[in-house]
Amino acid sequence: MRAPRKKPTRKVAPDIAARLGHRFSLQMQGDGNIAASVGDYSVNLGQFSGAAMDHARHLSTGLPLASFAGKSKLAREIDALVHRLARHGLLEYRLSSSRDGPDLVVIEPQVPDYWPRRAKLSSRDTVVLSRFAYLRRRGNEMVLESPLAGALFRIGDPAIAATLATLSQPQKLGPKALSFNLLLLELLVESQILLKLDAKSGDGLRVNEGDGNLVLWDFHDLVFHTRSTEGRQANPVGAAFSYASVVPPPPAVRPRWPGNKIALRRFPSLEPNSLLPKLLRERHSTRDFDDKHPITLDELAQFLDTTARVVSEWKSGPYFDGGPEVTYSTRPYPSAGSAYELELYLAVSNCEGLACGFYHYDAGQHALVAISASAQQLQALSVAAQFAMDAPGQPQILITIAARFGRVSWKYSSIAYSLILKDVGSLLQTFYLAATDMGLGGCAIGTTDIDLFGKMTGLELHIEGPVGQFALGRGKKPEFQG
Ligand SMILES: Cc1cc2nc3c(=O)[nH]c(=O)nc-3n(C[C@H](O)[C@H](O)[C@H](O)COP(=O)(O)O)c2cc1C
Repeated sequence: MRAPRKKPTRKVAPDIAARLGHRFSLQMQGDGNIAASVGDYSVNLGQFSGAAMDHARHLSTGLPLASFAGKSKLAREIDALVHRLARHGLLEYRLSSSRDGPDLVVIEPQVPDYWPRRAKLSSRDTVVLSRFAYLRRRGNEMVLESPLAGALFRIGDPAIAATLATLSQPQKLGPKALSFNLLLLELLVESQILLKLDAKSGDGLRVNEGDGNLVLWDFHDLVFHTRSTEGRQANPVGAAFSYASVVPPPPAVRPRWPGNKIALRRFPSLEPNSLLPKLLRERHSTRDFDDKHPITLDELAQFLDTTARVVSEWKSGPYFDGGPEVTYSTRPYPSAGSAYELELYLAVSNCEGLACGFYHYDAGQHALVAISASAQQLQALSVAAQFAMDAPGQPQILITIAARFGRVSWKYSSIAYSLILKDVGSLLQTFYLAATDMGLGGCAIGTTDIDLFGKMTGLELHIEGPVGQFALGRGKKPEFQG
C-alpha cells in the first residue's frame, strides 16, 4: 500500500497578515457587535455583518492585508475593523512564506498609529542598516528594534538575522533579491531600520544619516530617551512592580557602613535661622488644586520670572581652532555646561487672566507664545498628568519641560542625555521651592508622552522633546503636616 502523499502547503504570494496580539480575544455578539478583550478590559469595535464576523475570526491566526484591500462591502467592513483594532494597539503583523508556515517575522507596533507601509525599492537600490538598529534577546525571542522605528520586528528565522548582519555594510539589492526579502526590506526602510542610500548619502555613516540634529545623538542616548518616556514604545511604563515578586523592596534608608559613627548635631526644623531651611521643610507635592481660586496670570509671571527667565547673555570664544563663538545665558537654576537646553511648554487649563491653551515660555523675552494645539490633545496631556498623580482633577497649569537635545550633544559625548535629566532635576527643585515660597502648589511628574508632544508642536522627536513635567496651581487646602 502506498503511503498517503503529504498534503502540500498552499504557497501564497508573500504578504503581511494582521493578527490579534496573543493576549487579546474577539467576542462576536448576537447583535452583530464585535468586542476585543483582555482580562476584565473590553473595547467595543462596532457592529458588523455576519460575513464580516466570519471573516474576522481569521484574525486569531492571521488575516492577509491583501484579502481586504478591495472595494467590496465586505472588504471595507474588514478594513474598518482591522484599523480600529490597530488604533487600540491590539494587532501584530505576521510575515510567513506560506499561510500555514511558521512566523518568519512578526511586527509589533510601538506607536498607536503604526500601519505596515512599504518603501519602494528596486533591484538598483542600495540599502544599509541604520546605526540606531539593534538585535537583542527578549525572553526567548530575537527582536530587531530602533528608537526611530514605529514598530519592532520579532525575527523568527535565523537566516534573516544573518541577512541583517550583512547589512552593516551597504548592499546593492540586485535582481536576486527574493520577493519575500524585498517585502521585509521595504518594511524595514519605511521603519527607518534600514536606509536607502542615494548619491549624497555615501556609505550611510553617522554624518549622512538624517539631519544635523540626528547626527549629534549617541545611540544609547536616543534609545534611553524613547524607552524611558511614553508614546514611542508599547512596554509598560511607570509603577508596574514588574519584578516585585522576585526581588524584595530595597530599604528606604541605606544600611549603615561598619566604620566608626560620628553623630552630627541636629538643627531644629521649626526655628530656622534663614529662609531656606524653612522653604525646604515646607516643600511638598500638591496634587489637588483649588479650581474656584485658580492661579492668576500675575502669579504665573512671577513664578516664571523667579525660576526660569534669562537673566543675562554672554559669549565665549571658540573652543577649538576655527570653531564658532558660542552664546550662553544665565538663569536662576544650574545647568550642565551652562547649556540651558530646557524649554517650558505650558498647557493651561485654569488660570485667571490667561486663556486655556498651549504656550511656549520665551525665557529670553519673558513672554508666553500661543501654539495651536487641538482641544483633544490638550485634554489628553492634562488627563495623563492627572492619571500619573492619581489626582482628583486636572492640574491648572501643566508645565512640560522639553530639551533642545543638540544644545548639549553638540559639545558632550556619551553623557549628553544624562546631563539633560540632571538639569531637569535641578529645575524641578527650583519649581518646588518657588511654588512653596509663593504659597502655590506643584508636583513633579515622572512620565511624558513624546509622541503627543511631537504632534502638538510639529517638532521631530530627535530635535526637541519632553523630558519632564510639573503640575502647578493653587493647592486646594494646606497639605503641609509639619
Ligand atoms: C522626578 C520625580 C518624578 C515624580 N513623579 C511623580 C508622578 O508621576 N506622580 C506623582 O504623583 N508624584 C510624582 N513625584 C512626586 C513624588 O511622589 C514626591 O516628591 C514624593 O512622594 C515625596 O513627597 P513630597 O514631594 O510631598 O515631599 C515625582 C517627584 C520627582 C522628583
